[in-house]
Amino acid sequence: MKALLRIPSISTLPEHAGDVRRAAQFVADELKRIGMENVRLIETAATDHPGGHPLVYADWLKAGSGATTVLCYGHYDVQPAEPLDEWKSPPFEPTERDGNLYARGAVDDKGQMWMHVKALESLFAANGGRLPVNIRVIVEGEEEVGGEGIARFVREHGDQLKADVAVVSDTEMFAPDLPTLCVGLRGMIYTEIEVRGARTDLHSGMYGGAAPNPFVALAQIISKLKDADGRILVPGFYDKVAKPTVDELKAWKALPFDEEHFRQAEVGSCELTGEPGYSVLERIWARPTLDVHGMPGGFIGSGAKTVIPAKALAKVSMRLVPDQIPVETFGAYKAYVESIVPKGVEADVRLIHSGDPIVISTDNPYVKSATEVMREVFGKETVFVRGGGSIPIVGDFVRELKTPTLLMGFGLPDDNLHAPNEKFHLANFHRGIESLIRFFSNVGA
Ligand code: BES
Ligand code: MN
Ligand code: MN
Repeated sequence: MKALLRIPSISTLPEHAGDVRRAAQFVADELKRIGMENVRLIETAATDHPGGHPLVYADWLKAGSGATTVLCYGHYDVQPAEPLDEWKSPPFEPTERDGNLYARGAVDDKGQMWMHVKALESLFAANGGRLPVNIRVIVEGEEEVGGEGIARFVREHGDQLKADVAVVSDTEMFAPDLPTLCVGLRGMIYTEIEVRGARTDLHSGMYGGAAPNPFVALAQIISKLKDADGRILVPGFYDKVAKPTVDELKAWKALPFDEEHFRQAEVGSCELTGEPGYSVLERIWARPTLDVHGMPGGFIGSGAKTVIPAKALAKVSMRLVPDQIPVETFGAYKAYVESIVPKGVEADVRLIHSGDPIVISTDNPYVKSATEVMREVFGKETVFVRGGGSIPIVGDFVRELKTPTLLMGFGLPDDNLHAPNEKFHLANFHRGIESLIRFFSNVGA
Protein backbone atom coordinates (compact mmCIF):
# COMPACT_ATOMS: atom_id res chain seq x y z
CA MET A 1 0.00 0.00 0.00
CA LYS A 2 2.86 2.38 0.77
CA ALA A 3 4.13 2.08 -2.80
CA LEU A 4 0.71 3.12 -4.07
CA LEU A 5 0.54 6.02 -1.62
CA ARG A 6 3.89 7.29 -2.97
CA ILE A 7 2.33 7.92 -6.38
CA PRO A 8 0.83 11.45 -6.49
CA SER A 9 -2.26 10.48 -8.48
CA ILE A 10 -3.96 13.87 -8.21
CA SER A 11 -6.77 13.64 -10.74
CA THR A 12 -7.59 17.34 -10.97
CA LEU A 13 -4.07 18.46 -11.99
CA PRO A 14 -3.22 17.77 -15.66
CA GLU A 15 0.50 17.73 -14.88
CA HIS A 16 -0.11 14.58 -12.77
CA ALA A 17 -1.88 12.61 -15.52
CA GLY A 18 1.17 10.33 -15.82
CA ASP A 19 1.11 9.62 -12.09
CA VAL A 20 -2.61 8.88 -12.21
CA ARG A 21 -1.97 6.29 -14.93
CA ARG A 22 0.95 4.83 -12.98
CA ALA A 23 -1.34 4.36 -9.98
CA ALA A 24 -3.93 2.62 -12.19
CA GLN A 25 -1.27 0.28 -13.54
CA PHE A 26 -0.02 -0.44 -10.03
CA VAL A 27 -3.50 -1.42 -8.86
CA ALA A 28 -4.00 -3.57 -11.97
CA ASP A 29 -0.66 -5.36 -11.45
CA GLU A 30 -1.52 -6.12 -7.82
CA LEU A 31 -4.97 -7.44 -8.71
CA LYS A 32 -3.32 -9.77 -11.21
CA ARG A 33 -0.69 -10.85 -8.71
CA ILE A 34 -3.24 -11.88 -6.06
CA GLY A 35 -5.14 -14.06 -8.54
CA MET A 36 -7.80 -11.86 -10.13
CA GLU A 37 -8.56 -12.47 -13.79
CA ASN A 38 -9.42 -10.40 -16.86
CA VAL A 39 -7.47 -7.53 -15.37
CA ARG A 40 -7.43 -4.50 -17.63
CA LEU A 41 -7.31 -0.74 -17.81
CA ILE A 42 -10.37 0.80 -19.41
CA GLU A 43 -9.70 4.14 -21.05
CA THR A 44 -12.23 6.89 -20.36
CA ALA A 45 -10.64 9.76 -22.30
CA ALA A 46 -12.82 10.87 -25.21
CA THR A 47 -13.19 13.99 -27.35
CA ASP A 48 -15.93 15.22 -25.04
CA HIS A 49 -14.04 13.99 -21.97
CA PRO A 50 -10.43 15.04 -22.56
CA GLY A 51 -8.01 14.12 -19.83
CA GLY A 52 -10.19 11.22 -18.66
CA HIS A 53 -8.30 8.80 -16.40
CA PRO A 54 -8.40 5.00 -16.80
CA LEU A 55 -10.64 2.62 -14.87
CA VAL A 56 -9.15 -0.59 -13.49
CA TYR A 57 -11.29 -3.68 -13.96
CA ALA A 58 -10.76 -7.24 -12.73
CA ASP A 59 -12.96 -10.21 -12.00
CA TRP A 60 -12.98 -13.76 -10.70
CA LEU A 61 -16.21 -15.47 -11.65
CA LYS A 62 -15.50 -19.15 -10.97
CA ALA A 63 -17.44 -19.61 -7.75
CA GLY A 64 -20.01 -21.53 -9.74
CA SER A 65 -23.39 -20.82 -11.24
CA GLY A 66 -25.87 -19.50 -8.74
CA ALA A 67 -23.06 -18.05 -6.61
CA THR A 68 -23.41 -14.46 -5.40
CA THR A 69 -21.46 -11.82 -7.30
CA VAL A 70 -20.01 -8.90 -5.37
CA LEU A 71 -18.86 -5.69 -7.08
CA CYS A 72 -16.03 -4.00 -5.20
CA TYR A 73 -15.63 -0.29 -5.91
CA GLY A 74 -12.89 2.14 -4.90
CA HIS A 75 -10.94 5.10 -6.27
CA TYR A 76 -7.20 5.43 -6.69
CA ASP A 77 -7.15 9.17 -7.38
CA VAL A 78 -6.56 11.70 -4.62
CA GLN A 79 -7.08 15.37 -3.84
CA PRO A 80 -4.21 17.87 -4.10
CA ALA A 81 -2.02 17.93 -0.97
CA GLU A 82 -1.77 21.70 -0.46
CA PRO A 83 -1.04 23.46 1.88
CA LEU A 84 2.19 21.48 1.96
CA ASP A 85 3.80 23.27 4.90
CA GLU A 86 1.07 22.02 7.24
CA TRP A 87 2.00 18.36 6.76
CA LYS A 88 4.07 16.86 9.59
CA SER A 89 5.49 14.32 7.13
CA PRO A 90 5.45 14.67 3.33
CA PRO A 91 2.04 13.82 1.80
CA PHE A 92 3.45 11.32 -0.67
CA GLU A 93 5.88 9.70 1.74
CA PRO A 94 3.61 7.41 3.83
CA THR A 95 4.72 7.56 7.47
CA GLU A 96 3.55 5.56 10.48
CA ARG A 97 2.99 7.44 13.74
CA ASP A 98 0.96 6.35 16.80
CA GLY A 99 -0.86 3.54 15.05
CA ASN A 100 -1.77 5.68 12.06
CA LEU A 101 -0.48 5.78 8.52
CA TYR A 102 -0.16 9.37 7.28
CA ALA A 103 -0.32 10.18 3.56
CA ARG A 104 -2.58 11.81 1.00
CA GLY A 105 -5.00 9.04 0.03
CA ALA A 106 -4.30 6.97 3.16
CA VAL A 107 -8.01 6.69 3.90
CA ASP A 108 -9.56 8.45 0.87
CA ASP A 109 -9.45 6.13 -0.83
CA LYS A 110 -6.28 4.19 -1.63
CA GLY A 111 -6.03 2.69 1.85
CA GLN A 112 -9.67 1.68 1.98
CA MET A 113 -9.59 0.29 -1.55
CA TRP A 114 -6.53 -1.67 -0.49
CA MET A 115 -8.58 -3.43 2.22
CA HIS A 116 -10.56 -5.04 -0.60
CA VAL A 117 -7.35 -6.14 -2.34
CA LYS A 118 -5.93 -7.58 0.89
CA ALA A 119 -9.18 -9.34 1.82
CA LEU A 120 -9.29 -10.98 -1.62
CA GLU A 121 -5.61 -11.86 -1.46
CA SER A 122 -6.06 -13.61 1.84
CA LEU A 123 -9.15 -15.50 0.65
CA PHE A 124 -7.30 -16.70 -2.46
CA ALA A 125 -4.39 -17.83 -0.30
CA ALA A 126 -6.59 -19.63 2.22
CA ASN A 127 -8.77 -21.41 -0.36
CA GLY A 128 -6.20 -22.76 -2.78
CA GLY A 129 -6.56 -19.99 -5.32
CA ARG A 130 -10.36 -19.80 -5.15
CA LEU A 131 -12.85 -17.34 -3.69
CA PRO A 132 -16.12 -18.06 -1.86
CA VAL A 133 -17.99 -15.62 -4.14
CA ASN A 134 -17.78 -14.20 -7.63
CA ILE A 135 -16.00 -10.89 -7.53
CA ARG A 136 -15.82 -7.97 -9.88
CA VAL A 137 -13.55 -5.07 -9.05
CA ILE A 138 -13.87 -1.58 -10.54
CA VAL A 139 -11.50 1.15 -9.38
CA GLU A 140 -11.76 4.65 -10.82
CA GLY A 141 -9.30 7.52 -11.11
CA GLU A 142 -11.75 10.43 -11.36
CA GLU A 143 -13.86 10.21 -8.23
CA GLU A 144 -12.40 13.42 -6.84
CA VAL A 145 -13.28 15.28 -10.04
CA GLY A 146 -16.84 14.11 -10.52
CA GLY A 147 -16.52 10.58 -11.90
CA GLU A 148 -17.61 11.37 -15.45
CA GLY A 149 -15.66 8.48 -16.99
CA ILE A 150 -17.09 5.73 -14.81
CA ALA A 151 -20.59 7.16 -15.13
CA ARG A 152 -20.38 6.79 -18.88
CA PHE A 153 -18.97 3.26 -18.58
CA VAL A 154 -21.89 2.29 -16.34
CA ARG A 155 -24.39 3.80 -18.79
CA GLU A 156 -22.84 2.12 -21.84
CA HIS A 157 -21.43 -1.14 -20.46
CA GLY A 158 -23.34 -1.65 -17.23
CA ASP A 159 -23.68 -5.36 -18.03
CA GLN A 160 -19.93 -5.75 -17.42
CA LEU A 161 -20.46 -4.71 -13.81
CA LYS A 162 -23.46 -6.95 -13.21
CA ALA A 163 -23.52 -8.05 -9.58
CA ASP A 164 -25.90 -8.88 -6.74
CA VAL A 165 -24.41 -6.33 -4.40
CA ALA A 166 -21.81 -3.55 -4.57
CA VAL A 167 -19.44 -2.84 -1.71
CA VAL A 168 -17.90 0.60 -1.40
CA SER A 169 -15.36 1.43 1.29
CA ASP A 170 -15.02 5.20 0.96
CA THR A 171 -16.91 6.56 3.96
CA GLU A 172 -16.34 6.93 7.69
CA MET A 173 -17.32 5.26 10.92
CA PHE A 174 -19.44 7.50 13.12
CA ALA A 175 -17.04 7.13 16.05
CA PRO A 176 -13.96 5.06 16.92
CA ASP A 177 -14.90 1.38 17.48
CA LEU A 178 -18.43 1.93 16.19
CA PRO A 179 -19.17 -0.13 13.06
CA THR A 180 -21.08 2.03 10.63
CA LEU A 181 -23.02 1.68 7.44
CA CYS A 182 -23.59 4.87 5.53
CA VAL A 183 -27.02 4.90 3.92
CA GLY A 184 -27.11 8.28 2.27
CA LEU A 185 -24.81 10.68 0.44
CA ARG A 186 -25.33 14.24 -0.67
CA GLY A 187 -25.15 15.03 -4.34
CA MET A 188 -23.53 18.15 -5.72
CA ILE A 189 -23.20 20.69 -8.45
CA TYR A 190 -19.78 22.29 -8.78
CA THR A 191 -19.82 25.59 -10.64
CA GLU A 192 -17.68 28.53 -11.69
CA ILE A 193 -18.83 32.11 -11.97
CA GLU A 194 -16.64 34.25 -14.20
CA VAL A 195 -17.18 37.99 -14.09
CA ARG A 196 -15.65 40.30 -16.72
CA GLY A 197 -15.44 44.08 -16.59
CA ALA A 198 -12.86 46.12 -18.49
CA ARG A 199 -11.19 44.84 -21.67
CA THR A 200 -7.87 44.51 -19.88
CA ASP A 201 -6.36 45.04 -16.42
CA LEU A 202 -6.31 48.75 -15.51
CA HIS A 203 -4.36 51.12 -13.28
CA SER A 204 -6.67 51.55 -10.29
CA GLY A 205 -5.69 55.19 -9.84
CA MET A 206 -6.26 56.21 -13.43
CA TYR A 207 -9.57 54.37 -13.81
CA GLY A 208 -10.80 53.55 -10.29
CA GLY A 209 -14.15 55.23 -9.71
CA ALA A 210 -15.23 54.94 -13.31
CA ALA A 211 -14.31 51.36 -14.24
CA PRO A 212 -16.22 48.35 -12.88
CA ASN A 213 -14.37 45.98 -10.53
CA PRO A 214 -15.19 42.31 -11.20
CA PHE A 215 -14.08 41.19 -7.74
CA VAL A 216 -16.40 43.64 -6.03
CA ALA A 217 -19.17 42.56 -8.41
CA LEU A 218 -18.45 38.90 -7.62
CA ALA A 219 -18.52 39.60 -3.88
CA GLN A 220 -21.87 41.33 -4.33
CA ILE A 221 -23.22 38.34 -6.23
CA ILE A 222 -21.94 35.87 -3.64
CA SER A 223 -23.39 37.90 -0.79
CA LYS A 224 -26.81 37.39 -2.33
CA LEU A 225 -26.51 33.59 -2.61
CA LYS A 226 -26.98 32.89 1.10
CA ASP A 227 -28.45 34.83 4.00
CA ALA A 228 -26.91 35.25 7.43
CA ASP A 229 -28.62 32.07 8.67
CA GLY A 230 -27.15 29.98 5.88
CA ARG A 231 -30.38 29.79 3.90
CA ILE A 232 -29.75 29.65 0.17
CA LEU A 233 -31.55 32.43 -1.67
CA VAL A 234 -31.87 30.83 -5.12
CA PRO A 235 -35.62 30.86 -5.84
CA GLY A 236 -37.12 27.36 -5.66
CA PHE A 237 -33.91 25.88 -4.28
CA TYR A 238 -35.63 24.01 -1.45
CA ASP A 239 -38.78 22.99 -3.36
CA LYS A 240 -37.78 19.33 -3.77
CA VAL A 241 -35.87 18.85 -0.53
CA ALA A 242 -37.20 15.72 1.18
CA LYS A 243 -37.22 15.49 4.96
CA PRO A 244 -35.52 12.54 6.61
CA THR A 245 -38.05 10.07 8.00
CA VAL A 246 -39.19 10.28 11.59
CA ASP A 247 -37.35 7.01 12.28
CA GLU A 248 -34.11 8.37 10.82
CA LEU A 249 -34.31 11.55 12.87
CA LYS A 250 -34.97 9.49 15.98
CA ALA A 251 -31.99 7.24 15.27
CA TRP A 252 -29.72 10.27 14.70
CA LYS A 253 -30.75 11.71 18.06
CA ALA A 254 -29.61 8.47 19.70
CA LEU A 255 -26.12 8.58 18.14
CA PRO A 256 -23.22 9.42 20.45
CA PHE A 257 -22.70 12.93 19.05
CA ASP A 258 -20.98 15.60 21.11
CA GLU A 259 -21.53 18.92 19.39
CA GLU A 260 -18.89 20.72 21.43
CA HIS A 261 -16.28 18.09 20.59
CA PHE A 262 -17.25 18.33 16.93
CA ARG A 263 -16.87 22.10 17.03
CA GLN A 264 -13.57 22.08 18.82
CA ALA A 265 -11.75 18.93 17.69
CA GLU A 266 -13.02 18.58 14.15
CA VAL A 267 -14.04 22.03 12.93
CA GLY A 268 -11.89 24.16 15.23
CA SER A 269 -13.91 27.35 14.83
CA CYS A 270 -15.23 29.59 17.58
CA GLU A 271 -18.80 28.72 16.68
CA LEU A 272 -20.75 26.43 14.38
CA THR A 273 -22.89 28.08 11.76
CA GLY A 274 -25.87 27.04 9.71
CA GLU A 275 -29.60 26.91 9.57
CA PRO A 276 -31.43 27.45 12.84
CA GLY A 277 -33.96 24.74 13.70
CA TYR A 278 -31.80 21.90 12.37
CA SER A 279 -29.39 19.78 14.40
CA VAL A 280 -25.76 19.68 13.27
CA LEU A 281 -26.20 16.15 11.89
CA GLU A 282 -29.27 17.23 9.94
CA ARG A 283 -27.36 20.22 8.59
CA ILE A 284 -24.45 18.10 7.30
CA TRP A 285 -26.44 15.04 6.17
CA ALA A 286 -29.91 16.09 5.15
CA ARG A 287 -29.82 19.77 4.22
CA PRO A 288 -28.38 21.23 1.03
CA THR A 289 -25.59 23.80 1.32
CA LEU A 290 -23.61 26.25 -0.75
CA ASP A 291 -19.90 26.91 -0.38
CA VAL A 292 -17.28 29.06 -2.05
CA HIS A 293 -13.98 27.25 -2.55
CA GLY A 294 -11.77 29.93 -3.99
CA MET A 295 -11.72 33.13 -5.99
CA PRO A 296 -8.77 32.95 -8.38
CA GLY A 297 -7.69 36.01 -10.32
CA GLY A 298 -6.45 39.55 -9.72
CA PHE A 299 -3.34 40.17 -7.69
CA ILE A 300 -2.58 37.57 -5.00
CA GLY A 301 1.20 37.96 -4.66
CA SER A 302 2.78 39.33 -1.50
CA GLY A 303 2.95 43.08 -1.32
CA ALA A 304 0.66 45.43 -3.17
CA LYS A 305 -0.31 46.00 -6.77
CA THR A 306 -2.80 48.69 -7.70
CA VAL A 307 -4.78 47.04 -10.42
CA ILE A 308 -8.40 46.70 -11.42
CA PRO A 309 -8.48 43.14 -12.77
CA ALA A 310 -10.33 42.65 -16.02
CA LYS A 311 -11.92 39.45 -14.73
CA ALA A 312 -12.60 37.48 -11.56
CA LEU A 313 -13.57 33.89 -10.93
CA ALA A 314 -15.35 32.12 -8.08
CA LYS A 315 -15.60 28.38 -7.56
CA VAL A 316 -18.96 27.70 -5.96
CA SER A 317 -20.52 24.34 -5.16
CA MET A 318 -23.82 23.22 -3.74
CA ARG A 319 -24.34 19.95 -1.88
CA LEU A 320 -27.74 18.53 -2.75
CA VAL A 321 -30.04 16.16 -0.90
CA PRO A 322 -32.89 13.93 -2.04
CA ASP A 323 -35.00 14.71 -4.10
CA GLN A 324 -33.16 17.66 -5.60
CA ILE A 325 -32.20 17.19 -9.26
CA PRO A 326 -28.72 18.53 -10.16
CA VAL A 327 -29.52 19.86 -13.67
CA GLU A 328 -32.67 21.53 -12.43
CA THR A 329 -30.96 23.11 -9.46
CA PHE A 330 -28.14 24.34 -11.69
CA GLY A 331 -30.67 25.95 -14.01
CA ALA A 332 -32.35 27.81 -11.16
CA TYR A 333 -28.97 28.91 -9.77
CA LYS A 334 -27.68 30.12 -13.14
CA ALA A 335 -30.84 32.11 -13.83
CA TYR A 336 -30.70 33.65 -10.36
CA VAL A 337 -27.00 34.62 -10.63
CA GLU A 338 -27.63 36.16 -14.05
CA SER A 339 -30.46 38.19 -12.55
CA ILE A 340 -28.27 39.75 -9.84
CA VAL A 341 -25.20 40.73 -11.88
CA PRO A 342 -24.27 44.33 -11.00
CA LYS A 343 -24.06 46.85 -13.81
CA GLY A 344 -20.84 47.27 -15.76
CA VAL A 345 -19.87 43.58 -15.74
CA GLU A 346 -20.89 40.38 -17.48
CA ALA A 347 -21.10 36.99 -15.80
CA ASP A 348 -20.67 33.49 -17.15
CA VAL A 349 -22.05 30.66 -14.99
CA ARG A 350 -20.61 27.24 -15.80
CA LEU A 351 -21.26 23.73 -14.49
CA ILE A 352 -18.02 21.82 -13.83
CA HIS A 353 -19.54 18.55 -12.61
CA SER A 354 -22.56 17.20 -10.84
CA GLY A 355 -23.77 14.11 -9.01
CA ASP A 356 -27.08 12.86 -7.67
CA PRO A 357 -27.93 12.72 -3.98
CA ILE A 358 -28.93 9.29 -2.76
CA VAL A 359 -30.53 7.49 0.14
CA ILE A 360 -30.02 3.73 0.06
CA SER A 361 -32.52 1.15 1.20
CA THR A 362 -31.37 -1.07 4.07
CA ASP A 363 -34.02 -3.65 3.36
CA ASN A 364 -31.87 -6.44 1.90
CA PRO A 365 -29.98 -9.51 3.19
CA TYR A 366 -26.59 -7.94 2.42
CA VAL A 367 -27.14 -5.23 5.00
CA LYS A 368 -27.93 -7.97 7.48
CA SER A 369 -24.74 -9.86 6.54
CA ALA A 370 -22.67 -6.71 6.88
CA THR A 371 -24.02 -5.92 10.35
CA GLU A 372 -23.43 -9.53 11.42
CA VAL A 373 -19.81 -9.63 10.32
CA MET A 374 -19.07 -6.22 11.82
CA ARG A 375 -20.62 -7.37 15.10
CA GLU A 376 -18.16 -10.28 15.07
CA VAL A 377 -15.21 -7.99 14.35
CA PHE A 378 -16.07 -4.93 16.47
CA GLY A 379 -18.26 -6.54 19.14
CA LYS A 380 -20.85 -3.81 18.62
CA GLU A 381 -24.08 -3.21 16.78
CA THR A 382 -23.77 -1.27 13.54
CA VAL A 383 -25.12 2.27 13.38
CA PHE A 384 -26.73 3.66 10.24
CA VAL A 385 -25.73 7.18 9.30
CA ARG A 386 -25.67 9.39 6.26
CA GLY A 387 -22.55 11.08 4.88
CA GLY A 388 -22.36 14.73 3.95
CA GLY A 389 -19.90 14.02 1.14
CA SER A 390 -20.55 12.69 -2.32
CA ILE A 391 -19.52 9.59 -4.27
CA PRO A 392 -21.11 10.34 -7.62
CA ILE A 393 -21.16 6.78 -8.99
CA VAL A 394 -23.13 5.33 -6.07
CA GLY A 395 -26.34 6.85 -7.40
CA ASP A 396 -25.71 5.13 -10.76
CA PHE A 397 -25.01 1.75 -9.12
CA VAL A 398 -28.37 1.98 -7.38
CA ARG A 399 -30.52 3.63 -10.06
CA GLU A 400 -28.85 2.59 -13.31
CA LEU A 401 -27.58 -0.90 -12.40
CA LYS A 402 -30.23 -1.56 -9.73
CA THR A 403 -27.49 -3.06 -7.57
CA PRO A 404 -28.00 -2.84 -3.80
CA THR A 405 -24.98 -0.98 -2.52
CA LEU A 406 -23.25 -1.13 0.86
CA LEU A 407 -21.23 1.87 2.01
CA MET A 408 -19.02 0.05 4.44
CA GLY A 409 -16.26 2.47 5.32
CA PHE A 410 -13.63 2.39 8.03
CA GLY A 411 -12.34 5.95 8.14
CA LEU A 412 -12.58 8.06 11.28
CA PRO A 413 -14.04 11.54 11.66
CA ASP A 414 -10.57 12.93 12.41
CA ASP A 415 -8.77 11.24 9.51
CA ASN A 416 -8.34 14.62 7.75
CA LEU A 417 -9.78 13.72 4.37
CA HIS A 418 -8.83 16.33 1.75
CA ALA A 419 -6.82 18.17 4.44
CA PRO A 420 -3.20 18.20 5.59
CA ASN A 421 -2.10 15.14 7.62
CA GLU A 422 -4.62 12.73 6.17
CA LYS A 423 -4.29 9.39 7.93
CA PHE A 424 -5.73 5.91 8.22
CA HIS A 425 -5.97 4.37 11.68
CA LEU A 426 -4.19 1.06 11.09
CA ALA A 427 -6.41 -0.85 13.52
CA ASN A 428 -9.34 0.11 11.29
CA PHE A 429 -7.43 -0.95 8.19
CA HIS A 430 -7.10 -4.40 9.76
CA ARG A 431 -10.65 -4.55 11.10
CA GLY A 432 -11.85 -3.49 7.68
CA ILE A 433 -9.97 -6.33 5.99
CA GLU A 434 -11.33 -8.77 8.57
CA SER A 435 -14.89 -7.52 8.04
CA LEU A 436 -14.59 -7.81 4.27
CA ILE A 437 -13.16 -11.34 4.46
CA ARG A 438 -16.08 -12.37 6.65
CA PHE A 439 -18.56 -10.56 4.45
CA PHE A 440 -17.37 -12.24 1.24
CA SER A 441 -17.41 -15.63 3.02
CA ASN A 442 -20.81 -14.97 4.58
CA VAL A 443 -22.59 -14.00 1.35
CA GLY A 444 -20.84 -16.86 -0.42
CA ALA A 445 -22.12 -19.45 2.07
N1 BES B 1 -14.80 9.61 0.10
C1 BES B 1 -15.29 10.92 -0.21
C2 BES B 1 -16.76 11.10 0.07
C3 BES B 1 -17.20 10.92 1.49
C4 BES B 1 -16.38 11.24 2.55
C5 BES B 1 -18.47 10.46 1.75
C6 BES B 1 -16.82 11.06 3.84
C7 BES B 1 -18.92 10.30 3.03
C8 BES B 1 -18.08 10.60 4.09
C9 BES B 1 -15.04 11.18 -1.69
O1 BES B 1 -13.75 10.81 -2.09
C10 BES B 1 -15.13 12.65 -1.96
O2 BES B 1 -14.40 13.40 -1.39
N2 BES B 1 -15.96 13.01 -2.89
C11 BES B 1 -16.03 14.33 -3.38
C12 BES B 1 -16.82 14.21 -4.64
C13 BES B 1 -16.91 15.40 -5.49
C14 BES B 1 -15.61 15.99 -5.85
C15 BES B 1 -17.75 15.09 -6.70
C16 BES B 1 -16.68 15.26 -2.38
O3 BES B 1 -17.56 14.83 -1.63
O4 BES B 1 -16.27 16.41 -2.33
MN1 MN C 1 -13.25 8.98 -1.44
MN1 MN D 1 -12.40 12.46 -1.44
